[in-house]
Amino acid sequence: MFVTFRRLRRCQYVQLMTTCLVLSLVMVCWEQLDNTVVSHVKSVSFRYFINRFSMVNKSLTIPREQALVFSNFPYLLDHPEKCKDQDVLLLLFVKTSPENIQRRQAIRSTWGNQTYIRQSLGVTVKVLFVLGALEASDERPDRSTYGPQEQLEFEDKLYSDLIQQGFTDSFHNLTLKLLMQFHWMHQHCAHARFLMTADDDIFVHIPNLVQYLQDMSRRGLTDLWVGKVHRGSPPVRSRSSKYYVPYNMYPWLSYPDYTAGAGYVVSSDVADKIYHATLTLNASLYIDDVFMGICANAIGVSPREHAFFSGEAKAPYHSCIYSQMMTSHGHVEDIYDLWKAATHPQVKKEGPGLIGRLYCTIVKVALLCRPYYVNSYPCKAAFS
Ligand SMILES: *[C@@H]1O[C@H](CO)[C@@H](O)[C@H](O)[C@H]1NC(C)=O
Ligand SMILES: *[C@@H]1O[C@H](CO)[C@@H](O)[C@H](O)[C@H]1NC(C)=O
Ligand SMILES: *[C@@H]1O[C@H](CO)[C@@H](O)[C@H](O)[C@H]1NC(C)=O
Ligand SMILES: *[C@@H]1O[C@H](CO)[C@@H](O)[C@H](O)[C@H]1NC(C)=O
Repeated sequence: MFVTFRRLRRCQYVQLMTTCLVLSLVMVCWEQLDNTVVSHVKSVSFRYFINRFSMVNKSLTIPREQALVFSNFPYLLDHPEKCKDQDVLLLLFVKTSPENIQRRQAIRSTWGNQTYIRQSLGVTVKVLFVLGALEASDERPDRSTYGPQEQLEFEDKLYSDLIQQGFTDSFHNLTLKLLMQFHWMHQHCAHARFLMTADDDIFVHIPNLVQYLQDMSRRGLTDLWVGKVHRGSPPVRSRSSKYYVPYNMYPWLSYPDYTAGAGYVVSSDVADKIYHATLTLNASLYIDDVFMGICANAIGVSPREHAFFSGEAKAPYHSCIYSQMMTSHGHVEDIYDLWKAATHPQVKKEGPGLIGRLYCTIVKVALLCRPYYVNSYPCKAAFS
């Protein structure tokens, strides 16, 4: 009797210690847990059950004169005549930074090669690089050599494809770059049928994209906004993240739906409405794709999901993927090889026929339907 009692006590003691340990672990990890699990549960509930973002629109609406400060920076490099008298299918803005000259070169000679596009696809696509200004301290480190701004001017003389506005080029000024694209289109290229905005480290499968857009255009589709859609995303409240947004900038639990900023497309009617929305919105929220969602929310446009637009991640390398891919993120060194492989005539020949389709479905399931494989194409892409 006495022995069992002692054993029981020891048992309870162990239990108590374990509980304490677990509790303290939870307390230590609570912030982490709150940032991931809890905030997602809250934001998804907010998105699906409350689903009211009109207060976002209301509270971010400001007078026109005040909204103007986000867009009236002077142009340092510009090509207002780019689209003049041309039937432009797609105006494609690549968000770049002054120092990324190698990325721009790679794009010019692969998916952004307008001569290639005109010759082999028979359409006009205008590829323009949008950038901000160098900080004053970056200018002319040494007077005897060319300063970075002069190098940009030199590059622009060669290619005539840089659009630069006088705000500091930085991550937290990406929303200014977004406004610049919609304002430039409104002023100089309103007749282009589609607008795309893309990062300078993505791969765009231009032949597939052009075919898709021609199809949309033929069907007279309006109200199009397509990309990789984020629904019910919570604002990041952890200060160490580059996506950190303070409560006073955005107090709500969830963002309106938006497409990943890596690459998305809108039809010209949407572009025009977005432009008008920017005229009365407070653009200090510096995450550009989220701000795009706020603009779209103000005009009542919702994004459409396309399984072959990627978010953060690279698409797997395989010809069964190439025949459908639209964008893939995170390509710098491999862009030349990928371009060659993805547009190889052989890719289009594979796939047709029942056996080909079956083979590709199996390959895609093996590549895309794996646990922990996130942010590239979803599993359902294997069946489309
Ligand atoms: C663009 O494509 C054309 C036609 O295919 C080709 O002649 C030209 O060399 C390419 N430009 C670059 C910069 O690679
Ligand atoms: C954004 O650009 C403006 C205008 O050049 C500048 O004053 C501001 O510091 C920049 N903001 C960031 C976060 O770089
Ligand atoms: C825009 O929002 C910021 C907070 O994100 C605020 O500090 C600023 O005063 C607002 N601007 C206007 C014109 O209301
Ligand atoms: C957003 O606010 C603007 C300006 O107050 C208003 O014109 C617009 O209709 C609002 N949009 C929605 C969807 O409520």
